This record gives sequence, C-alpha cells and structure tokens, in this order.
Amino acid sequence: MIGPTMMSHSLPLVTEQHPQDQAEIETLLDLAFGIGRRAKTTYRLREGNVAAAGLSLIVREAGFGIVGSISFWPILIGEAQTPALLLGPLAIHPQRQNQGIGRALLHESLAKAKVLGHKLIILIGDAPYYLKAGFRYAPVNQIEMPGPVDPKRLLYLELEAGSLAQAQGLALPLFRWSEIIALRGAT
Ligand SMILES: CC(C)(COP(=O)(O)OP(=O)(O)OC[C@H]1O[C@@H](n2cnc3c(N)ncnc32)[C@H](O)[C@@H]1OP(=O)(O)O)[C@@H](O)C(=O)NCCC(=O)NCCS
Repeated sequence: MIGPTMMSHSLPLVTEQHPQDQAEIETLLDLAFGIGRRAKTTYRLREGNVAAAGLSLIVREAGFGIVGSISFWPILIGEAQTPALLLGPLAIHPQRQNQGIGRALLHESLAKAKVLGHKLIILIGDAPYYLKAGFRYAPVNQIEMPGPVDPKRLLYLELEAGSLAQAQGLALPLFRWSEIIALRGAT
C-alpha cells in the first residue's frame, strides 16, 4: 500500500478527471475548503459554466482515493471579451498536503493549457503559494470580479506574453455576457 512517506518521494501521477469522479471530488473540496466554499466569488464564475476541456485533472492514490484535483473555467474579461481561464479549485486532501501533489497538478495543467492555446490564467487564492508557480498580482482595478475579492489574492499568469493588457473590466462566463448583450439589445 502507498503511504504518506512513499507519496512524498514519488512523482504524483496526474490523470484526467472522469464524470464518475465528481461526487468524490465534491467531498474532497468540502474537506479542503469547508462546506461554505460555494459562497465564494469564484463560484459566481463557475455556476452554469462548463469546465475547460482537458484541464480537469486529478491525482488518485491506490487504496485511498482521489487526493488532489484541479479544474479551470472559461471566462471573458471586459467589453473586449478577452478570453481567459479561471483556475480553481485546486484542492489536496488534508492528509496528503505538502507532498508535491498541488505542484504536480499545477505544473501539468498549466502545460496542457498552453498547448491547448489558452493565453491567460487568473485565480483568487493564497498568493505565497501561487507566486512560487509564476503567478503575479493582478494590477489593482484592472480586472473586476462578480463579487468581493481581496486584491492581494487576485493573481494572473500569462501563457502568452502581453495577454494581460487586453484583460480589462468585468470577468464573467460567456453565457452571462450573452445575457447582458441580449438585454442591451432589447432596451
Ligand atoms: C494549498 C494547496 C493547494 C497546496 O497544495 P499541496 O500539495 O498541499 O502543496 P505542495 O506540495 O504543492 O507545495 C508545498 C509548498 O507550498 C507551501 N504551501 C502549502 N499550502 C500553502 C498555502 N495555503 N499558502 C502558502 N504556501 C503554501 C508549503 O509550505 C510548501 O512550501 P515549500 O515548498 O517551500 O516547503 C493544498 O494544501 C490545499 O488544497 N489546501 C487546502 C485549501 C487551501 O488552503 N487553499 C488555499 C489556496 S487557494
């Protein structure tokens, strides 16, 4: 059986999430973030949205279950409708944290996102963790989120140099922008 010590010395195997993993992942997210997690602003960008294809990844440990998961959500930023991905949640089981699983999921998913042609990633999260992975603080007041955000937790990563400059204004999923544009057309 693979125990905590072995996990910390072997590279976590990152695989794609399957629909049947969803219930287990929801439990993992409750464990990692608490059951109040859905009140967070990031959930306003996930509700009704569909996770970005090919970027919902997990790490599974034999005899334990899913120990880590990450997903990304397509959003459009500002009137220019600049496409970006919202990263998250990235969650590691409390009994398997600080063993490199989060780092492995981040590394693999960001590499895949780049190959898939995504240009800009944003997230709301613990800056000390994500700065080490190459993220930077978003310039104050450049990107507006659909709910309260601590500016010190709003971060970005350019997968294509210069992509942040185009991202100015409110971040929303495509279907929310479509609703807004339809409403404008009707008035
Ligand atoms: C935060 C989280 C994703 C990190 O993943 P992980 O697999 O536990 O951590 P990793 O093994 O990839 O990285 C470990 C390193 O990150 C640091 N670290 C871990 N969690 C951190 C956090 N919340 N903030 C800052 N640094 C953190 C560790 O101190 C360690 O640093 P070192 O390499 O200098 O020793 C994971 O711990 C988790 O799901 N936590 C619960 C949810 C949470 O608190 N999320 C906050 C971030 S949005």
